[in-house]
Amino acid sequence: MKVGGLFAGIGGIELGFKNAGFDIEWANEIDKNACITYRHNHKHTLYEKDLNNLAPKEVAPIDVLTGGFPCQAFSIAGYQKGFRDDRGNVFFRILDFIDELNPKVVFLENVKNLIGHDKGKTFERIIHELETIRGYTVKHKILNSSEYGNVPQNRERIYIVAFQDEYIASKFTFPKPKKLTKRITDIIDSTADEKYYYTNSRYYEQLKDEMKNKDTVYQWRRVYVRENKSKLCPTLTANMGTGGHNVPLIIDSKDIRKLTPRECARFQGYPESFKFPEQLANSSLYKQIGNSVSLPVIKAIADEIKKVLG
Ligand SMILES: C[S@@+](CC[C@H](N)C(=O)[O-])C[C@H]1O[C@@H](n2cnc3c(N)ncnc32)[C@H](O)[C@@H]1O
Repeated sequence: MKVGGLFAGIGGIELGFKNAGFDIEWANEIDKNACITYRHNHKHTLYEKDLNNLAPKEVAPIDVLTGGFPCQAFSIAGYQKGFRDDRGNVFFRILDFIDELNPKVVFLENVKNLIGHDKGKTFERIIHELETIRGYTVKHKILNSSEYGNVPQNRERIYIVAFQDEYIASKFTFPKPKKLTKRITDIIDSTADEKYYYTNSRYYEQLKDEMKNKDTVYQWRRVYVRENKSKLCPTLTANMGTGGHNVPLIIDSKDIRKLTPRECARFQGYPESFKFPEQLANSSLYKQIGNSVSLPVIKAIADEIKKVLG
């Protein structure tokens, strides 16, 4: 079963499908730094360009088309102008690829709020395009990585799986919840490089006062620290480490520090064998991991897709 990946980032969806036994044929990504990481870890063809400049006829045939498409793609202006005319809206570019490649399965991932966006109209339109216009049968579900991926990260995402064949779709079910056995303490290293510590920060005394537990992850929001009571890492986001959005904090055996990019990758279920290019700044790595997916959740869904496709 061959897979083509749109909005590939560092290739989390592609890796999840590969781990489930699919063959990745090609992928597309526009971001230069994400492509550097991608090439460090994947051998297949990566088209490094704006999807709007990649012709659907240019790519090899596939059975499954995937895409964790950017959520900011939907603008109210888009609706007013009429969807089809809004060439900036990359969702419609996915449809061009579906029309040309005719995949058996389309797999999409997005933030949970996609469902409620623009009073539900955005989601309705997505379903309409896939079901009514193109005849796919669509199944979707919001899954939390901590309940379905055995990673201690609170990350709710919507997964949309569209099948060309109605009977195959009827056999498909989303994966069952998995017991969470991995703890935060299994993920964090006992110490890290000096640059991750807050020891010399002007907020250090306040942080020390407010952070007491070693088995949880804290969110530092300029003036206050929030402890995650459920012993989960808060959702890792693409903007962590930029502006007012800090990388989550922990207490290790030495002191208070932020998570390293490697630890963030573990919270997404990435294996140690996944390589981060040395030439990239940490800010870039945090963004790439926050933008990515929880690998075990993708693999679990891909396993179910594989079962029904036979
Ligand atoms: C939410 S991220 C997906 C991350 C991916 N699932 C992963 O595991 O790393 C969306 C990605 O779409 C890319 N992107 C946005 N607009 C694009 C475009 N017009 N053409 C190609 N890629 C685009 C962004 O650079 C970003 O990496």
